[in-house]
Amino acid sequence: MEHFDLLVIGGGPGGYLCAERAAQGGMSVALFEAVHMGGTCLNEGCIPTKTLLNSTKLYRHAAESAQFGVTAENVKLDHAAVLKRKAQVVKQLVTGVESAMKSHKVTVIRETARIAGRTEGGFQVDAGGESYAGARLVIASGAQPALPPITGLREALESGFAMTSTEALDLKELPQEMVVIGGGVIGLEMAYYFAMAGVKVTIIEALPKIAGTTDPEICKVLMDDYKKRNMTFKVDCKVTEVTRDSVVYEEKGERQEARCGKVLVCVGRRPNTANLGLETLGVEMDRAAIVTDRHLCTNVAGVYAIGDCNGKVMLAHTAYREAEVAVNHMLGVRDEMRYGVIPSVIYTDPEVACVGESVESAEAKGMHVKEVRLPMLFAGRYVAENRGGRGFIKLVVDTDRSCLVGCHMVGSYASEIIMTAVMMVDTELPPQRLKKLVFPHPTVAEVIREAIFQI
Ligand code: NAI
Repeated sequence: MEHFDLLVIGGGPGGYLCAERAAQGGMSVALFEAVHMGGTCLNEGCIPTKTLLNSTKLYRHAAESAQFGVTAENVKLDHAAVLKRKAQVVKQLVTGVESAMKSHKVTVIRETARIAGRTEGGFQVDAGGESYAGARLVIASGAQPALPPITGLREALESGFAMTSTEALDLKELPQEMVVIGGGVIGLEMAYYFAMAGVKVTIIEALPKIAGTTDPEICKVLMDDYKKRNMTFKVDCKVTEVTRDSVVYEEKGERQEARCGKVLVCVGRRPNTANLGLETLGVEMDRAAIVTDRHLCTNVAGVYAIGDCNGKVMLAHTAYREAEVAVNHMLGVRDEMRYGVIPSVIYTDPEVACVGESVESAEAKGMHVKEVRLPMLFAGRYVAENRGGRGFIKLVVDTDRSCLVGCHMVGSYASEIIMTAVMMVDTELPPQRLKKLVFPHPTVAEVIREAIFQI
């Protein structure tokens, strides 16, 4: 049996970065990945969707270019070409991860791994008919689309009438009409692409609003914009059944039916923790999620769980940071997760980006806060680049501690600008200090500077 300092199960952002950091820290590492290196993020999540959404952004800008004095005729979105480019982008990045593993001398085992229990000095993992021993073990097995118990859904998935985001990213033939079940981040990003590609999309969301806990005022701006782009919303409507050619839902207690050519199910993701052999070690679970602390330790000393499989914040950038915190714990370096300062982004056009507390969440924690709201029109570049743009920013300020605790924004470049706010929230610097920061002019980010002067 081959021995390693560390065994990592899963080759997504959590797993591959953990392997890389552990190797940099001097450990011998084996990483198990059965499907594809790069995991969900690179192959069927973040990267492919952002590639698709970039094409819609270019398409929209070209189609609406006349108002900026640019004439473009016959602007089309070629779905087949978009998919082809997406495949190239994914391939390039997966190859990058593979070569990073090679250069860090990580042993990559392309087999399904199963924990077989304890062995002398650590843990045993079986894969491809071989056994491997590791002094430590990291579970980074990710998540998969959740499938709610909706009548007829399984049959619809089997027949191909319904699909999850995984299949949607490779959908060759576009239907005329599509129903998206779930108006969370995945539902919105996927729906936006298909709508821009010419599909008439209806989004059915059980809650009274889309985009989960996103600021309601931001959701209103999003909805208004989406509605102009082939997207119809049915909120406060619960899907109860999928038939052969329709989706049945309840609206104000009444049964409604939406016919369509395809159904896309985006109702959350579920940690991949079944059939891993976690029970052989007695790892504590909370339903499908592995229970971890702020160092990513499980209840079993030497066993860590990072990324979506711990169910905390299912985002690739959370997994990256968790990987580093876990490796630091192994190396005896003081570090811990601060889940409250993780940004989130919706990559449609307009973009949404948020970090930290909202007024409601802060007040629920007993904090005294005030909100500063400013339209992005305060930034010259925003005015230059957007006609009639309704983008805005909201800062949430802790008035007792005099520091920024949250930032919520909708508008162009929000996904890039948010990092400025993340640093402000993370460092807890007082507004007097933040006022001394010099922003490049003209940038949309300057709206943050303007807002700080209004605290
Ligand atoms: P989600 O939990 O964010 O949203 C699912 C939505 O489906 C909820 O709003 C829920 O009310 C609704 N729903 C559930 N059952 C329903 C029914 N029967 N009828 C109608 N509506 C129903 O899950 P989502 O969007 O699938 O995302 C999963 C994870 O992936 C999240 O953690 C998300 O943050 C992450 N993600 C993040 C992205 C980003 O940061 N840009 C992109 C893609 C995913």
